[in-house]
Amino acid sequence: MKLANRIQTVEGSKTARFIPLLEDLKRQGRPVISLAIGEPAYDTPAPVIDATKRALDRQETRYSDMAGLSDLRAALAGRFDGCRPENIVVFNGSKQALYAIFQTICDPGDEVIIPLPCWVSFAEQVKLAGGEPVFVHTKDHQLNVDAITAAVTDSTRAILINSPNNPTGAVYPRQDLARIARLAMDHNLFLVSDEAYDFFVYDNRHCTSLFDLEAVRDRLIVTRSFSKHYAMTGFRVGYAVAPVDVAAAMVRLQSHLTGNVCTFVQHGALAALEMDDGLLIQRRADLQRKRDLAFEHVSGLFPCIRPQGAFYLFPDVSGHLNRGETSGDFAARILEKTEVAVVPGEDFGMDGHVRICFAAPEDQLLDAFKRIRGAL
Ligand SMILES: Cc1ncc(COP(=O)(O)O)c(C=O)c1O
Repeated sequence: MKLANRIQTVEGSKTARFIPLLEDLKRQGRPVISLAIGEPAYDTPAPVIDATKRALDRQETRYSDMAGLSDLRAALAGRFDGCRPENIVVFNGSKQALYAIFQTICDPGDEVIIPLPCWVSFAEQVKLAGGEPVFVHTKDHQLNVDAITAAVTDSTRAILINSPNNPTGAVYPRQDLARIARLAMDHNLFLVSDEAYDFFVYDNRHCTSLFDLEAVRDRLIVTRSFSKHYAMTGFRVGYAVAPVDVAAAMVRLQSHLTGNVCTFVQHGALAALEMDDGLLIQRRADLQRKRDLAFEHVSGLFPCIRPQGAFYLFPDVSGHLNRGETSGDFAARILEKTEVAVVPGEDFGMDGHVRICFAAPEDQLLDAFKRIRGAL
């Protein structure tokens, strides 16, 4: 039977494919080190686990508000100047928030400008909404605002910004974001700002959010996540902050899709917000140390730009590619020879690179770099 064209043109998540592959290799008893999956190797904080268990004990196991628990939305709204709970929608991870955003703002043929390299799901989600991703290369991992400006057409509907960036770890400076904001206002475009890693910015750098630029708030949709900061990737909680009419439209979509996000899990998310920032600050310092360690080792092997945020390195491995080899072939060769998993840059729209996640235990990082050095 023929499947819909819509699904035939969509590729499965290229990073998600590593999850069963690595589980399989581990089951075979192979000493695999995964620097492929984008999740921190920390425990979920105890207050989050406790609050989730208590919610289960209280039988918080029923349908709940499809926009998210009112206490959770109120707590989130309190973190965004001038926002009310009506501006917040809780989703099954920021991945689903982004899906809902493109379903809500794109008509068939609408173009969404996406800087490259980019996280694996953006383009597929735009396509699922009938839109067309328009890719614009970054320069040394920073936004090329002139090229983005040149890419705007009558069909452009939105510009997507992801800072701190996956896969490069780049953090975009306020002046570039202000130029993007001006561009969106001049051409009446939506801005979608994926801030899944906003707390993980290093060297005391401030991470400007597009939300800091007040003039664009009526056209801005921000997504954030509990996954990375609180090591809650399996909980699946993220959220969008949007103008009230956009948020209401996304709740209409949600009402036909998953309904509410798992009720007891949202109590865990609320407990995460109620923690003071001590643990996050400690983890950020640990990640900065790992960033330094990983950068020192990796930049000794390949040209690499020092990441300022998130928890990835994106070195240029093109000098190690055999004739006709892609970064996918290189990653497969490294996995085969060293049992270290990294993600090929072509999965993020930029061949000749690999993505290395440094949010792994330190002994594993050191072992992985030793194995890679040996193989090269
Ligand atoms: C840039 C970016 N956005 C969104 C997500 C989705 O995260 P989640 O759905 O767990 O909130 C990820 C996950 O890797 C990501 O890297």
